[in-house]
Parts: sequence; C-alpha cells; structure tokens
Amino acid sequence: MTTTPTTAPQFSLTDDQRDVQAMVREFAAARITPNAAEWDRNHTFDRALYAELAELGLMGICVPTELGGAGMDFLSYVLAVEELSRADAGVGVTIAVHTSASTLPIVHWGTEAQQQAWVPKLASGEWIGSFALTESGAGSDAGSMLTRADEQADGGFRITGRKQWITNGAYAGSFITFARSEPGTTDASGVSAFLVAGDSAGLSVGRVEEKLGLNSSNTVDMVYDDVSVGADLLLGTRGKGFRIAMQTLDGGRITIAAQALGIAQAAFDLASSYAKERTTFGKPIGSHQGIAFKLAEMSVEIEAARALTYRAAALKMAGQPHTVEGAQAKLFASGVARRVTGEAIQVLGGYGYSKEFPAERYYRDAKITEIYEGTSEIQKLVIARRLLGLDVR
Ligand code: CAA
Repeated sequence: MTTTPTTAPQFSLTDDQRDVQAMVREFAAARITPNAAEWDRNHTFDRALYAELAELGLMGICVPTELGGAGMDFLSYVLAVEELSRADAGVGVTIAVHTSASTLPIVHWGTEAQQQAWVPKLASGEWIGSFALTESGAGSDAGSMLTRADEQADGGFRITGRKQWITNGAYAGSFITFARSEPGTTDASGVSAFLVAGDSAGLSVGRVEEKLGLNSSNTVDMVYDDVSVGADLLLGTRGKGFRIAMQTLDGGRITIAAQALGIAQAAFDLASSYAKERTTFGKPIGSHQGIAFKLAEMSVEIEAARALTYRAAALKMAGQPHTVEGAQAKLFASGVARRVTGEAIQVLGGYGYSKEFPAERYYRDAKITEIYEGTSEIQKLVIARRLLGLDVR
C-alpha cells in the first residue's frame, strides 16, 4: 500500500492552544454575544472592548513578548479569531486586520527602530492598527493603485490619494499604507509600503461605509492629503512594497478563513439546538430527515473548512510556503460560511428570517468573507497560478 506524501506538519491542539480557545470562548460568551445584536443594529464599534481584549493579551496574541505581545503561536491567534467571530464577526475582523495586516508586517519587515516604536503600542491595544491598500479603482487589481508617495529632498515622502474600505480606519493609531513611490509605473512594481501614524497631518476619514453586515466593524475611506512621512517610515525595500502586501495577505487570508469558520459554527450551533426544540408533526424537526441530513452536511462542511484552515496555519507556523493553502482555506471556508448560514435560516424557517434570532446576521456577515482579503475569484487565481505555473489572468 502506498501513502500520499505530504509536506504539511501534523498537528493537534496543544494544551496552550486549548487554553486560549477556552479563554476566548468564555470571554466572548460573557462580553460579546449578549451585545452582538445591538452592535449590529446600531452600528456600534465598541472601543472599550478592545482595551478588555488587550488585558487578555489578545491585541498582540502572536506578537513576540520582547515587543509587548503575548508570544503565542499563529494557530492560537487563528483559534482566537474563530471564537471571537463565533460571537460577533465584526469583532473577529477588527482583531484580524489589527494583528495580521497591521502589526505582523512591522514585526516581519520593520527595522529595529520601527519595531520598538510601533509594535508595543499595537500589541498593548493603545493603538488599533489598519491596512490601507484598496482604492475605488484598485480592489482585485491592487497593483494599479493611484495613491502617490512623492519623494522629497530630505529623502522623506508626501502621500496623496484616497483609500477605500479601510477596516478600523476611524479608530486606527497606525496605517500600513501602500502608495506608488516610483514615478512612471502603473503596476505592482512601483509600490512602496509606509508606516503612517493615525494622527498625521493631512490624514482624515472620508466616508463611513454603509454595509450589508459586519456592522460592529468600522469601514471607511481614508483621505491622504499631502501626508508627510519621513524616510525612516518606509517599511521594507523601496518599490518592493507590493510583495509585503501579498505576503501579509497570505497570512491574513488564513484568519479570514477562521472568521468564516466561526460564523459557520455559530450558525450550526443555533440551527442544531433549534432543531432539537422545535416540533412539527409531533416530533422535533431534527428527527425529520430533511432537517437532520441538512445538519449532518453542514457539520461536514465546517469540519473540512476547519481542517484546511488549521493546516494552513500549521504550515505558516512551520515556516513553510502557505500561499496556496491559505487561499484554499479562505476560498472553501468562506463558501461554507455562506452555505451554512443560508441553511441555518432554512432550518429556523420564518424565525431564521426574523431579527428575533441571529441567523439572519450570520448570513449577512458571512457574505463579506467571499469578498475581502481577495475575492473567491482572486483566491482561485492565486491557487491556479501557483499550481499550473502559468500567468493566469
Ligand atoms: N508572496 C510574495 N510575493 C508575491 C506574492 C506572494 N504571495 N504574490 C505576488 N508576489 C510578488 C510577485 O512575485 C511580484 O514581485 P516581482 O515583481 O518583484 O517579481 C509582485 O508581487 C507582483 O505580483 P503579480 O505580478 O502576481 O501581481 P498582479 O498585479 O498580477 O496581482 C493579485 C496579483 C494576486 C491579483 C493581487 O493583486 C491580489 O492579491 N489582489 C487582491 C487584493 C486583495 O486581496 N485585497 C485585499 C485588501 S485588504 C482587506 O481586505 C483587509 C480587510 O479589510 C479585511
């Protein structure tokens, strides 16, 4: 008998990882779940919550202790995002963008001085972090951005442009900002990454986005009007910032898969408990095959998404390539979230469509996981390019 070789490390949760999972689950059940419907209804970003999460070490969960973080591993962070998203997907994405897209790039590519000046503020929750890549005309084709970083005589830059759909923007103390630093370029080749402080002169919130869901997460346009950044705030190599964006998204996509997983799990938990209580034709609806089989299929999809997500996290932790695996996890888990939340509504029937139960919120929140940090179509493009070795467009 032959076995299929695999480069994926084997994993099962360690005691520390289980402890984090239990701690976040308990906190979320007490502090987040009871508020989630109201935050959704009123579009509330609860800034105080993030101070409480900081006290638990969750604003810098996988950041090294030398830089003020909790020093845990990437899978612990993924488990935390999953549990937070199970309670409220808006909280999940706030932490995901703050950590993967805003703090870890400085840990990985920052100079010693940048790390010391920026990371402890983020890891302690004094600052919430943000990631400014997307523009109105540059979403999937991120490399076509128009925001400019004009070089100054002193070696610094002045940034001008408008970024769109910026998660955490109105509350952020720092922005990893991507801008075109190389005049004459029109694609990914001329982009640099910069550290921009939230209180920089010329940086302001443009428009607050009205969304289908994820209402406890803040999403805004950010306007850069001649924002001055010193040469010391260039992150990584000049003109190579797009690689930083792509590698950041390689890890970020694993956490969006975790977010999708958390939403799907919440929908499944609701649907299965409802199916045991609600009766029709003299017995619980879960005793009817039509509902029982639906729940069985939902559980399989969730476990498959979980396996892909944890596998991608394990590869990243082991320092192995994870571009394809992260994209696979996000592609699959986001589809699972959409399908499972839709089926949960079906199980609850009219109650699923009503705001009396959270099923409709899960459904609205799930959809974005197929769009941000790269649409499902972009995930397929990333996977196909790597697997085929062709320039798929
Ligand atoms: N790792 C390292 N480098 C990478 C890379 C990766 N995974 N992918 C690409 N690169 C490098 C390439 O090697 C190339 O570098 P060189 O020129 O030095 O050789 C450079 O980046 C350009 O790569 P491509 O030619 O592949 O670039 P492209 O223009 O064809 O774009 C794309 C590729 C995959 C479509 C990319 O534009 C993409 O990912 N688009 C989706 C954008 C996205 O996910 N946005 C999310 C916004 S953030 C967000 O959503 C946060 C939130 O609020 C939740």
